Amino acid sequence: MLQLIGIIAVISLNLITNSVAVFTCPQANGTYVNRDDYRSFYRCINGINMLQYCPSATQYYSTSNATCQDIPTEWSYTYDLTGTYTITANTEYRHVYQKDYDVYWTSDTPTVANTFIGRYINETHVVGIQTRLIHLTGCTSVLNARMIAIGNKSFCYYTSLALFGRTCDLEAPYSSYACVSQ
Ligand SMILES: *[C@@H]1O[C@H](CO)[C@@H](O)[C@H](O)[C@H]1NC(C)=O
Ligand SMILES: *[C@@H]1O[C@H](CO)[C@@H](O)[C@H](O)[C@H]1NC(C)=O
Ligand SMILES: *[C@@H]1O[C@H](CO)[C@@H](O)[C@H](O)[C@H]1NC(C)=O
Ligand SMILES: *[C@@H]1O[C@H](CO)[C@@H](O)[C@H](O)[C@H]1NC(C)=O
Repeated sequence: MLQLIGIIAVISLNLITNSVAVFTCPQANGTYVNRDDYRSFYRCINGINMLQYCPSATQYYSTSNATCQDIPTEWSYTYDLTGTYTITANTEYRHVYQKDYDVYWTSDTPTVANTFIGRYINETHVVGIQTRLIHLTGCTSVLNARMIAIGNKSFCYYTSLALFGRTCDLEAPYSSYACVSQ
């Protein structure tokens, strides 16, 4: 009974947050690309699916020959995000550099230095890690971050504290959301 309640709780949580995509196997057996994150694919056995990741985090699953490839052949990123963005006028500028499927950015102010390293997981979403160093104290936070490209030189940005990441001067719930354009 307790197990059943647990299952129902998980199902309703998924419905509410809509964060876990429900995948239905098109055929009983086969492998299918995951459009939410091309580094992974669904393996179906007897109609039951299992999400699996490519052996390397820099590889993408290719449906045409069912292998993991360094360069995707069936899709490409939609926008170019390279540029300098004003976060706070005269104080914080974010320098973004997009090279193929890798995206980096830095920003430095008198108080905080940020760096981000990320990679496209599909046409518009970049996931990566941001470090945030406070000059005065040396305290460094590690954040999980996601960039969502919404146009050329235009994106939204989400962060949440990484597991075991230090909070430093961040305030609960240690997450942020903002959109910037050039
Ligand atoms: C799917 O694969 C399983 C295990 O290999 C096999 O027993 C089953 O017959 C297959 N089903 C179909 C429809 O091919
Ligand atoms: C990319 O993946 C995210 C989830 O990781 C999903 O919300 C979004 O719709 C996907 N974008 C495209 C273009 O498929
Ligand atoms: C799979 O396809 C990609 C791109 O079309 C190609 O570069 C690669 O060599 C292929 N791999 C195999 C094992 O056929
Ligand atoms: C974005 O920029 C690329 C070149 O970097 C261009 O090919 C594409 O058309 C642009 N897209 C939009 C929506 O402006």
